[in-house]
Amino acid sequence: MVAEPSHIAGYLVLSPAAAPGDGQTLAREVLAGLTERPKRLSSRWFYDDVGSELFARICAQPEYYVTRTELQILTTHRADIAALAAGDGAPLDVVDLGAGDGSKTRVLLEHLLSCGHAPRYVPIDISHGAMRDLVARTRAALPTLEVHGLVAEYVEGIAHLTRQAAPRRKLVVFLGSTIGNFRADDARALLTRVREACADGDLLLVGFDLKKDPHVLFRAYNDAAGVAAAFNQNLLHRLNRELGTDFDVERFRHYGGYDVRSATVESFLCSTEAQVVHCSSLATSFDFAAWEPIVIEHSHKFTLAEVDELVGACGLLVERLLLDDARWFLDALLRVRGAR
Ligand SMILES: C[S@@+](CC[C@H](N)C(=O)[O-])C[C@H]1O[C@@H](n2cnc3c(N)ncnc32)[C@H](O)[C@@H]1O
Repeated sequence: MVAEPSHIAGYLVLSPAAAPGDGQTLAREVLAGLTERPKRLSSRWFYDDVGSELFARICAQPEYYVTRTELQILTTHRADIAALAAGDGAPLDVVDLGAGDGSKTRVLLEHLLSCGHAPRYVPIDISHGAMRDLVARTRAALPTLEVHGLVAEYVEGIAHLTRQAAPRRKLVVFLGSTIGNFRADDARALLTRVREACADGDLLLVGFDLKKDPHVLFRAYNDAAGVAAAFNQNLLHRLNRELGTDFDVERFRHYGGYDVRSATVESFLCSTEAQVVHCSSLATSFDFAAWEPIVIEHSHKFTLAEVDELVGACGLLVERLLLDDARWFLDALLRVRGAR
């Protein structure tokens, strides 16, 4: 796929794997995942154009407390966060990892602009559709803001920033508790990679979903309107569209379950009966037993002690711990010390 020049589109496509139509990485991962026991598919494949739209709809569901709770935290503390990020007035990049629709980051950008700062906004997202819409919406709403989006994997986008001729001060935001989708070792590796790409004094703002009533968690991942189910089932529609599989999506039922011992929500698509799914592009087929699951999402819920341990292990200092009144969600503002 040919990228539009970034000055016109407002974003660069760095990752061919993120581009629609490149099925090779997808095919490799699907073959590996559906031959594992239990069968697995990575949640990063959720976010094609339809998936990104469905995720935005999940965020608006009454049961999905995450978005409105984090929005409340950021709105309450925007002046403090902006003042710390703007610091001595050096040129600032607000880097938004897995930006999605960017609606929460917008609160911080608007505040920085209203205080006379001129940050550059650098959203990084693997979803081309989400990036196209985000850049267009942001430019329309905040015409004076410089926007430089990257359609890329997290690590690839961060590496691109470190290759810039004149590195700028950074506020890296990683919202929505996306960090909870990583296994502990991978979360540590990612945050360490982000820290290494930053300079001394740069800030990270990371959203962590906290442990809470399991019933609240269950409802959030099994909303009454069925949007979470549609979001997860879209993964199978995507494989049908892009890999030539013949999943009969209605014969795979969504289930999100909270395991209280590991404090993790896992989402599954369960085959409602014994069936065989064919894949023309891989020239193979996959057997499913009745009620056999495909594991498609992992979302860890943290304690404050776990957050402390994780960020400490990544060489990050806690600047602020920002919580909502119910203590359901935490935005941790972290400072890079002793980098590069
Ligand atoms: C859970 S959503 C969070 C969106 C937004 N930050 C929020 O707080 O509402 C995760 C976002 O990360 C993007 N994403 C998923 N895997 C990614 C990857 N490996 N590299 C870059 N972006 C990724 C998705 O496209 C999606 O927009």
